[in-house]
Amino acid sequence: MTKFKIVFTPSGIQGEVAKNTDLMTAARELGADIASLCGGNGQCSRCKIQISSGEFAKHNITSTQNNLTPATAT
Ligand code: FES
Repeated sequence: MTKFKIVFTPSGIQGEVAKNTDLMTAARELGADIASLCGGNGQCSRCKIQISSGEFAKHNITSTQNNLTPATAT
């Protein structure tokens, strides 16, 4: 199974998740606290996050938009 490293900042919580894992599920699996008033149904906008691209030597990863699957409507 292909896994990808993900890092949540500023908490620094990180870990590996399976390919095609959505970000909310990844956050829950790794213990990152992302507000989710509507349970991820796209109604409250509390779960908005910013995805950073570039090289992050501190975390030993290179992140590009190509690492993400296209967003889907909820
Ligand atoms: S949790 Fe409500 S829009 Fe994401």
